[in-house]
Amino acid sequence: MWAVTTVSSLGDWLGVFALVVYVASSDHPISGAKAEFAVGGVLLFRVVPGLFFGPFAGVLADRFDRRRLMVSADIARAFLIASIPWVHTLWELYLVSSLMEMLGQMWMPSKDATIPNLVERDQLMMANQLSQISTYASFPFAGALVALLVAPAHLLQGVFPALKAHPVILAFFFDAGTFLFSASRVATFPRELMKVKRARAPGARWNPFSDLLEGLRFIRKQPIVRTLVLGAWTAFSGGSAIIALGPIFAGKLVRSSQGATAAWGTLIVAVGLGLVGGMMTAGWLSRRFDREKIFPIGLMVGGISAVGVSLMTSLQAALPVTFFAGFGAGTAWVTTFTLLQEKTEDRLRGRTFATLQTGIQLSLFIGLAGWPLLAGAIGNHTLSTSHYTIDFSGSRIAMASGGIFLFFSGVDAARGIATARGLRKTARKRGLRFRQPALAGGARKGLFISFEGVEGAGKSTQVKLLYDWLTKEQGKDVVVTREPGGAPIAERIRHILLDTQNRGMDPKTEALLYAAGRAQHVSDTVRPALERDAVVICDRYIDSSLAYQGLARGLGEDDVLHLNEWATDELLPDLVILLHLEAERGLERLEGDPDRMESEDVSFHRKVGEAYVHLAREYPSRFAVVDASGTKEQVHTQVRAAVLPFLAPDRVET
Ligand code: TYD
Repeated sequence: MWAVTTVSSLGDWLGVFALVVYVASSDHPISGAKAEFAVGGVLLFRVVPGLFFGPFAGVLADRFDRRRLMVSADIARAFLIASIPWVHTLWELYLVSSLMEMLGQMWMPSKDATIPNLVERDQLMMANQLSQISTYASFPFAGALVALLVAPAHLLQGVFPALKAHPVILAFFFDAGTFLFSASRVATFPRELMKVKRARAPGARWNPFSDLLEGLRFIRKQPIVRTLVLGAWTAFSGGSAIIALGPIFAGKLVRSSQGATAAWGTLIVAVGLGLVGGMMTAGWLSRRFDREKIFPIGLMVGGISAVGVSLMTSLQAALPVTFFAGFGAGTAWVTTFTLLQEKTEDRLRGRTFATLQTGIQLSLFIGLAGWPLLAGAIGNHTLSTSHYTIDFSGSRIAMASGGIFLFFSGVDAARGIATARGLRKTARKRGLRFRQPALAGGARKGLFISFEGVEGAGKSTQVKLLYDWLTKEQGKDVVVTREPGGAPIAERIRHILLDTQNRGMDPKTEALLYAAGRAQHVSDTVRPALERDAVVICDRYIDSSLAYQGLARGLGEDDVLHLNEWATDELLPDLVILLHLEAERGLERLEGDPDRMESEDVSFHRKVGEAYVHLAREYPSRFAVVDASGTKEQVHTQVRAAVLPFLAPDRVET
């Protein structure tokens, strides 16, 4: 996927450059159009239709096989770009240009939505770093390549005479080649990773508008997702001030008209290096700092730097500040991608990314046109005293305003993230509240222990060993139970859940049924046992739902937690023993016919394993992580050590 991204981004940029060079050349074969008009038109026809089509591109990416979508878009683009030498009117060219853009819009969200299915959770950040660096760092290479392709074009003139007048045509063919390369690679990807698991019944009629609305509603309702998307939009409209005003502003820094273009080029390089530097550092930062804070801080750093740039009076001073503006934006951008992929379930991801990108295009469009207008409206002013002259030109004020805009998009994002966290923190605190009284051995009666782990981690063996130890050696009243099940009605729900005939079960149905069985199990079995001060050992409990339904199925950890808190009247275990084992090793240990959950593919079980590790990190005081790869006695020793502190001191007999 990385190779594909690199090659096709190079192709994308190359196509844009080549097209601009082609239509701008004074004697182009397209009759009668002025060069400026032609260039402007090509760019306009790329952007505007895309603004309307973009959101639907996301709907397609969530509806159809993403692999097929990407391959078809690549092949169509290859043909379109290679057909340009045969296009004779400007309108045809505009049509080709906007079709290319729409196909690109279909391709991108499919790619962004697939990345999380290709890599492990903790590698997602790095995958995005690589993907985004490839996307943006190929820009200067594409520029150079357009120039380099002129030489081979001269050699090929004999074969294709049109190359004589327009060597840049070769770039179109090269570009077509990059699309075909991408198609040939993507076609070999495993199908399961790119096929969207749709929640809707297969027979239902497809309504793209309701799919679109569903995507927008999701973004609006999820605090973090909303914050990220809105933050990126406002950030781009603010940040576009640097790009839009750069050429005018560069002139102010060097005060000579020849130097202005070179100064502008240098500023662009500084921003570009900053961007790539920020993207490269984002992964390192995310390992040390909280990812959700990197995003708003990156935007603020970008904003402050943009204001700084607007105050500069020399190119030398402006360059490092410009670098930091790019750096802040680069860290924020990679983090946005990673967080969005983590917080969005697969079936909504195409739409989320399409909405993100379309909004960004709109922001850029408005920003690129708007900031220079503002600068023009303000005009040039200077304030002179006897010692120095202060420049209050419109371009400085507009650039500073863009920076302030960017800064406040960061502030707003910080606030949005704090709100979203507040919701999560209350849930976490509640988790702790139930643990403390049991530890003290007093206020709350009984002791509630659950066992968790991937399939085949050895939970039932360890439950049995712990039961023996607690009853025979500690003289405890112990109730062993399990989920799904543990009470007559809950056992019937278990049957529905594990029946392999129920293949098409909607993830939400699944989560609700597990929670439904749990509600019955808690009220029939667990609470009565705790009331009479017994120890309850439960084979799987809420954390199974968080891992399987919340994280592996992608319904979202927070929603599943809330659902289960409601189902159980907030009864959380005092201690969760996580038998930690690699998913593959666990699956090897399984015997007999696999049930519905066990028949999921390895990648699902791997996600479950990672989800448990994530949960154990998130709730360290509730979890005891036990290495389950040893012999059953070795594991049992660790389990006992984890349980011991929970047995009231006066009653421990060692
Ligand atoms: P079970 O045979 O009890 O699992 P194991 O053999 O691993 O002890 O089957 C329970 C299956 O249901 C298991 O694959 C995990 C899954 N599950 C959930 O997905 N969510 C839940 O909330 C629970 C309790 C189980």
